[in-house]
Amino acid sequence: MNPVLDTARTDTQTDHVALLMDSMDATKDSTARAAQDTMLTPRFYTTDFKAMDALDVTPVRAEWDKMMAEYEGDNNQDHFKRDAAFAEELKVLVPQLSPELRKEFLDFLISSCTSEFSGCILYNEIRKNISNPDIKQLMAYMARDESRHAGFINQSLKDFGLGIDLGALRKTKAYTYFKPKYIFYATYLSEKIGYARYITIFRQLERHPDKRFHPIFRWFERWCNDEFRHGESFALMMRAQPHLLTGVNKLWIRFFILAVYATMYVRDHTRPMLHEAMGFESTEYDYAVFRITSDICRQVFPVEVDIDHPVFRRCMDRLLAISLENDRARERGGMVGAVQRASCAVRAFFTFGRLYLVPVIQRELPKDIRLEPVW
Ligand SMILES: [Fe+2]
Ligand SMILES: [Fe+2]
Repeated sequence: MNPVLDTARTDTQTDHVALLMDSMDATKDSTARAAQDTMLTPRFYTTDFKAMDALDVTPVRAEWDKMMAEYEGDNNQDHFKRDAAFAEELKVLVPQLSPELRKEFLDFLISSCTSEFSGCILYNEIRKNISNPDIKQLMAYMARDESRHAGFINQSLKDFGLGIDLGALRKTKAYTYFKPKYIFYATYLSEKIGYARYITIFRQLERHPDKRFHPIFRWFERWCNDEFRHGESFALMMRAQPHLLTGVNKLWIRFFILAVYATMYVRDHTRPMLHEAMGFESTEYDYAVFRITSDICRQVFPVEVDIDHPVFRRCMDRLLAISLENDRARERGGMVGAVQRASCAVRAFFTFGRLYLVPVIQRELPKDIRLEPVW
């Protein structure tokens, strides 16, 4: 039973219809929100399938086969099902959410579901358009995992009458084309940062169970191991193509790390209540996630951004301030709003440029590529 709608339930037929209509409107609304493309919302990607088809994993064959056996073992097969306690916890916890926390939590669920589904679509499209057996099999496993993840979050959105129509989203949301090289950098980062985000939340709530305001967080530990393994797959694919990790490509790697970190920092700071409810402060949470991600990325990236550099920290805060100013200008609208937004864009560009110039730490790549999710 839907605990949110249930509190408002009456026995008349008309009210049922009204509730159903509301819930359909809400689904349209959350699907429309998921379909939006801004600097901060998760996107859908497509790529050059021919180049993906030509990928040769021979240089990392031993580690590859071990990883594929793990996928085949599918140790999370039974994980994405609700247990008996889930509904009970929902009934107790959901009515206690303040309206602000509820709004930020739902925003978090919509953006997480979109981003899980984005992975599902990309991996599935690659699988359908190639014949290379190694990559095809990998993409099938990863799409399987992401579809479970998206479905599980969507179930929680449905409790609030806000389920996303994933079929409609697949058709209506815009797709961004990325060269395979950029897909490798960006997707590797997003998988590993996804792991770092989920495990940081899980560990925090393990220490403070009283702050676990929704049962879905209990699922994060085994869940994030899937994300970790997806990241491992991209690490192996990149290490099989060493040219992606040398020369001018190091500049691209630096760019992608900073772009992913900055986007996360700005977006997370729009949800202060969510972090506070978990006993975090958004900045503290983000730096914990950056630190784990940076540690992991040493398996494949020859450069590491210096997250403790004072200029790095200052630029992150400045990007956040500019983004908030940009939101206010958008709300204001009109000629003045447009001029203010243009000024924000210019300042964001230069601030990102300054961030890019913060010296990076050079790293020697380890001989053994694979890592264990031990954080
Ligand atoms: Fe996922
Ligand atoms: Fe993933």
